[in-house]
Amino acid sequence: MNLAKHPRHKLTFGPTPIEKLDRLSQHLGGAVEIYAKREDCNSGLAFGGNKVRKLEYLVPEAIAQGCDTLVTIGGVQSNHTRQVAAVAAKLGMKCRLVQENWVNWHDSVYDRVGNILMSRLMGAKVELVNEGFGIGFKESWENALAEVRAGGGKPYAIPAGASDHPLGGLGFVGFAEEVRAQEKELGFTFDYIFVCSVTGSTQAGMVVGFAADGRARRVIGIDASAKPEETHAQILRIAQKTADLVELGQPITADDVVLDTRYAYPEYGLPSAETNEAIRLCARLEGMLTDPVYEGKSMQGMIDMIAKHEIPAGSRVLYAHLGGVPAINGYAGIYANG
Ligand SMILES: Cc1ncc(COP(=O)(O)O)c(C=O)c1O
Repeated sequence: MNLAKHPRHKLTFGPTPIEKLDRLSQHLGGAVEIYAKREDCNSGLAFGGNKVRKLEYLVPEAIAQGCDTLVTIGGVQSNHTRQVAAVAAKLGMKCRLVQENWVNWHDSVYDRVGNILMSRLMGAKVELVNEGFGIGFKESWENALAEVRAGGGKPYAIPAGASDHPLGGLGFVGFAEEVRAQEKELGFTFDYIFVCSVTGSTQAGMVVGFAADGRARRVIGIDASAKPEETHAQILRIAQKTADLVELGQPITADDVVLDTRYAYPEYGLPSAETNEAIRLCARLEGMLTDPVYEGKSMQGMIDMIAKHEIPAGSRVLYAHLGGVPAINGYAGIYANG
């Protein structure tokens, strides 16, 4: 495998820490050891998160092409658009964000707090568009690109989640390589890696990276899109293209993409009662915060699978914490009493 041949523009602090979640492990019976890899603390760029790691591989191309504006798309409380805004600021580029109504949540401050507040503060031009959830290419995004060009700018197009982009999977191949190096220091290897999936390139990169040591199917994707067929197909497509890019030397098949669809209910962007229970449990036992859209659902899935003994006793699991906490401000009503 050859990831190093792809240029990387460093935006993260360095390898992210792995910490043991002792109290959560004990609470769930102690037979499974739970660790978290803290992608939520990966950068000083506006709280960081999984997109910063992905963007490290897109930025060299944007610079090489002489682009002056990063253009991307997401929901109103998108973590991705906030991270793109931060990267643009850091690079001295302009930023144009299309933010659509992907979530059926109508808190009166939803479009003024958390992620979108920070994006505006960092100078991004934010456009609110009345369109629903979808991980495919959107007309609103094409229109924004055309507008930047018409204004004499040179846009660099970043699709939702920096996923369906030729270089979108590379960052999380790097995650797997980083975990392997950390495992050497720890003196053991992880049996399962839990990851939340929506636009797909986080899991896709991990599948490729862990395929290198036979662990592709040990990456347990927890779907939060509630459109699992689309998400599974997108993860597989990105993983296969990424495998070619890094010369993995072995095929990635549909069975290599494990996507558990049990926890995305009631729909994308809305937490279930069980999601909120998982968020509270993890917050109260570990002081580790997760959000109602993404990480709360993967936390819920991991807790549920351990509690139901679907994860064999004696296993060590790694929860990839991908960030996303700024969005909780948009859900203040749910957590008014904790
Ligand atoms: C906090 C958080 N977790 C998980 C995900 C899912 O990652 P991906 O879109 O690469 O599947 C995202 C973004 O969509 C996110 O912002």
